[in-house]
Parts: sequence; C-alpha cells; structure tokens
Amino acid sequence: MANNNEQNSRRNFIKIATVGSAAFGLAPVSQVFGSVDSTSNQLIVPENKIAESKGKSVMGLRCEPLKTVRIGIIGLGMRGSGAVHRLIQVEGTEIVAISDLVQKNVTEANKQITDAGLKAAVEFSGEEDWKKICERDDIDLIYQCTPWLLHTPIAVYAMKHGKHAACEVPSAVTFQECWDLVNTAEETQRHFMMLENCCYDFFELNTLNMARNGVFGDIYHAEGAYIHDLRWLKFMKEGGYHNMWRLEYSKIHTGNPYPTHGLGPLAQIMGINRGDRFDYLTSVSSNQFGMSLYAKEKFGENSPEYLQTYKLGDMNTTIVHSLKGKTIMIQHDTTSPRPYSRIHRISGTKGMAVKWPLEQIALEPNAHEFLKKEDLDELIKKYEHPLAKQIGEKAKKVGGHGGMDFIMDYRLIYCLRNGLPLDQDVYDAAAWCSIVPLSEKSVMNRGNSIDVPDFTRGAWEKAEPWPIVTIE
Ligand SMILES: NC(=O)c1ccc[n+]([C@@H]2O[C@H](COP(=O)([O-])OP(=O)(O)OC[C@H]3O[C@@H](n4cnc5c(N)ncnc54)[C@H](O)[C@@H]3O)[C@@H](O)[C@H]2O)c1
Repeated sequence: MANNNEQNSRRNFIKIATVGSAAFGLAPVSQVFGSVDSTSNQLIVPENKIAESKGKSVMGLRCEPLKTVRIGIIGLGMRGSGAVHRLIQVEGTEIVAISDLVQKNVTEANKQITDAGLKAAVEFSGEEDWKKICERDDIDLIYQCTPWLLHTPIAVYAMKHGKHAACEVPSAVTFQECWDLVNTAEETQRHFMMLENCCYDFFELNTLNMARNGVFGDIYHAEGAYIHDLRWLKFMKEGGYHNMWRLEYSKIHTGNPYPTHGLGPLAQIMGINRGDRFDYLTSVSSNQFGMSLYAKEKFGENSPEYLQTYKLGDMNTTIVHSLKGKTIMIQHDTTSPRPYSRIHRISGTKGMAVKWPLEQIALEPNAHEFLKKEDLDELIKKYEHPLAKQIGEKAKKVGGHGGMDFIMDYRLIYCLRNGLPLDQDVYDAAAWCSIVPLSEKSVMNRGNSIDVPDFTRGAWEKAEPWPIVTIE
C-alpha cells in the first residue's frame, strides 16, 4: 500500500507525464521510464498499467503446420552468414530471399546456398529492401541478423505482412519496442521468436532437465552474465560490426544493453512468464574505464577514439526480483580484460549448479563441496536433455557456438513444420529485453528500483513452465 505522499507524488508524476506526452506527440512518458521527484530526489516509478490488447494472447500459440519453411534472411554479416550455413542444413527449409547492404555478403551467402546444391535465393541490397522481402507472398519466416536498432521495426513489419519473425538478440532495445512486439504478435497471431541461442547450450539444457526433475529443489536465485571482452571488435574499422554499430551504441547508452544470453536460460528454468514473472529490478554500473584505456593505448592520446565519451559502464549488475520472491542477478561487461563467462549459476533448496569458470554441481546432503568428477559426469549423463541426445552430435559438426545455434534453428523449424508453440515466445522476448531500457533507467537513477510490466497481461498465472521438449 502506498502512503498519501507517495500517492500524491505518483498522481503528480502521471499528470506531468500525460501533459508531456500530449505536447510532444510521443508514447506516454509513464510507459517509457520513471522520473526523479525534484524535492525528494527519489525515483517515482510509473504505474504499471497494461494497455488492453488489440488482439488475443499468443501464449501457447499454434499456427498452421508448414511442410517447408520458406525463409527470408535479412542481415548477412558475421552472424547472418553463419545462419545461412546452418539453415541450409536443417531439413524442410528453403531460403527464398536474402538481403544485406554489402553486396559481397549477399554474393557469398548465395554461394553457400548454391554450393549446397540448392536453388539460389533472390538477392537484395538496398537499405529498405527488407520491406520488399517481408511483402513477398512466397515466404513464411523472416529471420534477421541485423544491428539492434533494426530488430523491432523489421519484425513488426514482417508480422504485419503475415510472416513469422525470428530475430537476433536483443530483439528490442526500448520499452516501446517491447510492447510493439507483443502488440503486433497478438494482433497478427504470428509467431515471434528471439533467437536466444544460449537456451540451447548443452549444460543449460542439462540443468533445465535437472531442475524440472527437482534435483536442485526449489530454485530461488540464479546468476547469469555476458562477460566478453569485445573491445578489439568494437574498435575494428574494417571487417568488424557494420559501420561500428556496437561502438556507436556504447557512446550513448548505459545499463545492460545485452542481457539475454545469461538471462534467457535462467528465466526458462525459473518459469518466468509461466507461473512467475519479473516484478521489479535494480541496476548499477561502474564507470567506463576500459574503452578509453584501450583507445589511448591503440590510437593515442589525441585520437578521436580516446577523446570520445562512452556512456556504457564497464560492469553493469542488475538484480531482478520476481513476483514470487525469487532473484536473478545479471551482469554485462564487454570492455574489461577478463575471460568469457555467462556464469549460469542456479541456487535451490537442495543444491546448486554453475557453468563458468567450470561446470560444477553441489547437492545436499553434502552441498558444502562440489561433486567429484565421476559423480558429476554420471549426473550429467542421467539428465542429458533429449534435444542434445537427438541432435547434439550433428549440431557439433555443423557448428555455431559449439552446436547450440544449430539446435536452436533445428527446433525452431521443427516447431513451425509441426504447428507447435515455439520454445521462446514474444512475451519472453519482451520481458528479457525490457532489461535493456529498464536497467539503463535504474542506473541513471542511482540504482533505484523500477517495475517490470507484465507483458503477458496475466497469462503467466496459468501458463505452464517450458517443458522438456524433443524433436521426435
Ligand atoms: N546470438 C548470438 O550468439 C549472437 C552473436 C553475435 C551477434 N549476435 C547478434 O546478431 C546481430 C548481428 O550481429 P553481427 O555480429 O552479425 O553484426 P554485423 O555488423 O557483422 O552484421 C550486421 C549486418 O546487417 C547488415 N545490415 C545493416 N542494415 C541493413 C539493412 N537495412 N538491410 C539489410 N542488411 C542490413 C549489415 O550490412 C551487416 O552485414 C546483432 O543483433 C547481434 O547482437 C548474436
């Protein structure tokens, strides 16, 4: 219950927000982020109002089975070229059209397709040619691997033109985009899947299976991360990110811009959006040191790279609290000299598991110590996930982050061909991606807590946690 002061300041804030948004013709500010009360210096969190859906819920959505999934791929850079390599090896697919601003990428992607003995895809290379691909009537799925700011606009346009949409991470970077994805999927009754490949990595699938079988008891806390030193790639002028889009984003945004690799598998294990949901979060960032230091060493003290301001703090730590009292800690650091880690730590009433720096599990009655190697191996074998059993070997041969990318693609196509609900739906994408804008707002307000809305509009209460799925 809010006290009177809180209620008054809340009402005032909503009034200001409404006037502001009407004046500027924008979405209500209250939907976008909280504001700081000038007298108390406290963050006023907007009321967590959920707009009425213009369609109907897509929780558990099943669509017409597709004999062959006809695909348009947009974005053929580092990630998209790998997607072509994998998708041509998934049975029941046809790549109909491809697009990238760089003609060489398009040509090379088509060479991969024709070298595999398949029909060449129709090529596009204009800035807005993705619209032409979405408008075609010989495509079922738009699969995109473009820079972050294009994700939601392309996905929304694709769904509005009757296509299912699959999109790289993070699928949305603003609060409004999270809602745009949800609203459009509900209106069009099309599938939207964020391509969170880490949900299909072997230890993540394994611990999911263990969790569903009660090995850890009730899981009440988890920790994930994206800790990956990308300074060299961010500053690479040729052959790196197209037009250095990731560096550009670091100049103007803080918080956690890339939360889903660590968060996705944990949210699935903990039944987020299916039996529980995110309630609020708090987020803090260290200042930025790594980019400037790197730029100074590499380009010199007078270089524009060194003189530039980068807003993205090196280490962001966000803690999300669920409605049922569980916590998830998520970190992001792509600018420090550290080994790669997504942590993947799960803590339950009967034990715990962790993936980085070493895969280890500790269980009651002796959870003071990690299991010995032979006991760990036995447990891992016992709870091997069916997807790993059925497609793991082929996935390792095809490649893509050790095989997880192929398992993801295979399962996506399998679901579309069999008219099944997808493993990650638009509500997952929205909730997981909402950490991007909400963490930034919390960081900018001294770590004050901020509400995470219920993107499922109440459907989380009845939805069942993601089951142990197969491809048979
Ligand atoms: N899931 C993962 O493990 C993983 C790994 C790497 C990257 N990613 C994600 O994949 C996406 C792409 O990353 P990347 O590393 O391939 O970057 P990239 O810069 O190498 O590729 C992006 C491509 O999009 C193209 N592009 C830009 N605007 C376009 C437009 N209007 N129409 C068509 N093509 C356009 C560019 O020409 C470029 O080739 C990002 O969202 C990134 O976060 C995910």
